Amino acid sequence: MTGEIAQVGVIGLGTMGAGIVEVFARAGLRVVGVDGSQELADRGRGFLESSTGRAVSRGRLAESAQQEILDRVTWTAEYDALADCDLVIEAVPERLDIKTAILTKLDGVVRPDTVLASNTSSLSLTEIAAATARPERVVGMHFFNPAPVLKLVEVITTVLSDDAVVERVRDLAERLGKKPVVVRDRAGFVANALLITYLARAIRTYETGHVSREDLDDAGRVGVGFPMGPLTLSDLIGLDVVKEVCDVLYAATHDPSAAPPALLQQLVAAGRLGRKTGSGFYDYEKAGSGTVTPAAAPDDVKPAAQVVVVGESAAASDLAGQIGGGGASSVEWVSTAGARDSLAGVDVVILASDTSPDWVAELLATMDSGATLAVASPGGAAATPAASGGVTVVALRVHPATKGGRLAEVLRSTGAPQVATLRATLSAAGFVVVGGRLRAGGVVDALLYPHLNDAVRMLDSGYATAADIDTAMTAGCGYPEGPLAMIDRIGPAQVAAVLTTMRDETGEVGLTPSPLLREATAAGQSLHG
Ligand code: 3HC
Repeated sequence: MTGEIAQVGVIGLGTMGAGIVEVFARAGLRVVGVDGSQELADRGRGFLESSTGRAVSRGRLAESAQQEILDRVTWTAEYDALADCDLVIEAVPERLDIKTAILTKLDGVVRPDTVLASNTSSLSLTEIAAATARPERVVGMHFFNPAPVLKLVEVITTVLSDDAVVERVRDLAERLGKKPVVVRDRAGFVANALLITYLARAIRTYETGHVSREDLDDAGRVGVGFPMGPLTLSDLIGLDVVKEVCDVLYAATHDPSAAPPALLQQLVAAGRLGRKTGSGFYDYEKAGSGTVTPAAAPDDVKPAAQVVVVGESAAASDLAGQIGGGGASSVEWVSTAGARDSLAGVDVVILASDTSPDWVAELLATMDSGATLAVASPGGAAATPAASGGVTVVALRVHPATKGGRLAEVLRSTGAPQVATLRATLSAAGFVVVGGRLRAGGVVDALLYPHLNDAVRMLDSGYATAADIDTAMTAGCGYPEGPLAMIDRIGPAQVAAVLTTMRDETGEVGLTPSPLLREATAAGQSLHG
């Protein structure tokens, strides 16, 4: 049969399965939802009712349209109800034995021309297909959580796939209003291979204890502009799922950056799987909720009474303007330190000009013990001493505003005291403040750039096109722009330079800029070119 797919079955009605039912039903298809018992099937109906109910209460869906969606779905524990389906997709737990048992059972229930699809995120689709009596009609249809919101569907093919079947499934994904990306079977496909490795790296950074979970998440959400920080996202996906995908990626590539971090393994062993169990990296008000139980109230630290910003640049005047605009501190902006006899009595001095270490020493000599000098000059981090005469010296990096706000990173050398007054001053001025170590890449670039490098490696491997990689990450993970577009905006040379410094500092070979990134740098070319 080659006609339009009109009736579909969905097996497994957990978060993903119920979301997939909603996607089909909203697009006007008739759907049969199947789970292991009528009770589980009814739970699936409950998910659909509450998800569409939320859309009604937000004024996004008419009540009559909600009823039509609900009427298109039947909920059952009987496989025979799938007999007339044109396509059946399974979204059951990630166990090869369970998935193959279901698909081989379906062989005896559905028509010979029915397409069988798997929503597997990590298993080999080739093994799943080969276990059935119709391997040429088995494809991957990988949806992203929350399925009704995120537009990506990875359509996965195997060496056994029939091209016409793949084309039908791609057309179906388009009819669903999704953005299909067709790729061959490979561990993690496009999106998970990149995303889960990024999450594993973030978890490893958190394990060092030098960045709080909130700061790490703000680095991703505000600093980069991702819709969520990496720990919040891991909790949303489910830590067991993140670990499973890490295991599969590591087994396939032996890339140490994809190995499941120890903390992730421990949380999974302890049953702290994220939102669905009510705790993961964060604690939630109840299982299934996205509302975090607040941690202990932060100390009530006052912003600095007096701040001096030193520097001639536009960046210096911008900083002074923003801090003064916050109103909590009195700010003086001077173009050179010499414009002021002494910095005595000033709590926070921000140096926002390129300068020599000697000059910094002169500034420090006039500052009070207990005050903070934040070096925000472009070459500042390297020139920043830990402390001098009781003045704490830190590096400050201010990032361009994103949808999430404007981020300021405060980077301290190991052992340097906390700089609560500086943080409070920047927060009062409207910055989202993140604290981290004075290391190459700070927090934000160290989180983002290895991820961008992985995307270039994937492009270089020939597995996916630049357009597919960028579509996968924007449509599947809500990125504001794809990783390759990000590199083109930041500049390949800048990304390669920071990666090289990170590699030199840590000795981690995986941080070596990929050959294609070096080529793009040398040739001044865009990665989309
Ligand atoms: N079901 C249905 N709709 C949902 C939903 C859900 N679970 N969660 C949110 N929505 C809808 C809301 O109703 C709202 O719709 P509206 O704009 O029409 O009113 C819209 O999504 C935005 O929601 P919110 O305003 O509540 O919140 P945000 O704007 O913060 O968006 C988010 C929430 C869509 C989850 C966004 O933060 C996001 O895209 N995060 C990234 C998620 C991600 O990366 N997912 C991929 C994970 S990897 C994966 O799934 C693959 C697997 O194999 C591991």
